[in-house]
Amino acid sequence: MNELAVRVHKVSMDFGTGGMAVRDASFDLETGRFLTILGPSGSGKTTLLRMIAGFLRPTSGAITIHGQPVEAVEPHRRAVGMVFQKLALFPHMTAAENVAFPLKMRRFDPRTIPARVERYLDLVRLGGFGGRRIHELSGGQQQRVAIARALVFEPELLLLDEPLAALDRKLREEMQLEFRRIQKELGVTTINVTHDQREALVVSDDIIVMDGGEIQQHAQPVTMYREPANPFVAGFIGVSTFLDGVATAEGMEAEGRAFAGRHIGAIAPGAPVRAAIRAEQILLDPPSGPTLPGTVSDVIFEGERLLYVVSAAGRAFQVYHHDPEGHAPRAIGAPVSLGWAPRDLHIFKSR
Ligand SMILES: Nc1ncnc2c1ncn2[C@@H]1O[C@H](COP(=O)(O)OP(=O)(O)OP(=O)(O)O)[C@@H](O)[C@H]1O
Ligand SMILES: [Mg+2]
Repeated sequence: MNELAVRVHKVSMDFGTGGMAVRDASFDLETGRFLTILGPSGSGKTTLLRMIAGFLRPTSGAITIHGQPVEAVEPHRRAVGMVFQKLALFPHMTAAENVAFPLKMRRFDPRTIPARVERYLDLVRLGGFGGRRIHELSGGQQQRVAIARALVFEPELLLLDEPLAALDRKLREEMQLEFRRIQKELGVTTINVTHDQREALVVSDDIIVMDGGEIQQHAQPVTMYREPANPFVAGFIGVSTFLDGVATAEGMEAEGRAFAGRHIGAIAPGAPVRAAIRAEQILLDPPSGPTLPGTVSDVIFEGERLLYVVSAAGRAFQVYHHDPEGHAPRAIGAPVSLGWAPRDLHIFKSR
């Protein structure tokens, strides 16, 4: 086990405007790991990050960075680098002057500054761009200047608040891989906030999913995807459709049929349950096993796959079919049956 970098212990934030922005959040982060806080708008992500940065004092609870309480260190002395959604680069300065700024603020030896700036511009693949003014750079290049500026003084912690949200999808996906590369290269402990579930899966060692100010699950990406802790997480990561029914010893009963499945937590037979099934795990007209009868209500071509919308059990099931070329699409209105492997039926106790 690596050294502990960040400890968030029973932290809450009440702005006094009704409802808590963050409620009783606790987690540990080891040195060198990349944690993503994922959640919908208003779920408390930025509030939590601002408390970790020391910009906002929790109503209750404690936050330590390398064993030191956050509030024990003055803001400009904290070894924390930050990149925000609004980049806050200095537009009248060059890229190199922007990157040099935190070094000057921290009174680094002026003779060492140019070489260090050059090294970090190289790291973000902007070698040779140091003399450009900010407005002479593309959006993605500006983003990389902001990253270099956050990293140049070698912070022990890097905090990122949706720094990629404004970019188009292709650039955003490239930058996600860049973040990953740079973070691995430097080994800097990172907390990244996003509402993009793909980004969370791609870049992170660990993911925390938040909803309504509360941590819903804290797990590594594969676990988060394969073993969602509750229906919220199952619905938020990936595309899931829900099926309501009653628990059996082996799974559940729904629409008069018995389905084998995975109980999440202890569930007594007879209890009302809600199951989640992912779009890519639903089989159309499987040759065997219990199935749910339905009707195709829409077929959408998405390039690498088809998305079927199938009405069944009073729900609109989303079903991905890969290999659209090797497949004769079912027509709208056609009857189909839906099946899945028992391990892909995640059964939760209904609330
Ligand atoms: N300064 C503030 N005063 C009062 N309420 C606030 C303040 N900042 C945030 N909130 C409230 O706290 C809740 C969480 O806000 P927060 O900004 O942390 O959400 P978020 O998860 O970052 O959302 P987004 O994805 O939209 O950025 C929201 O209900 C918000 O309205
Ligand atoms: Mg936010």
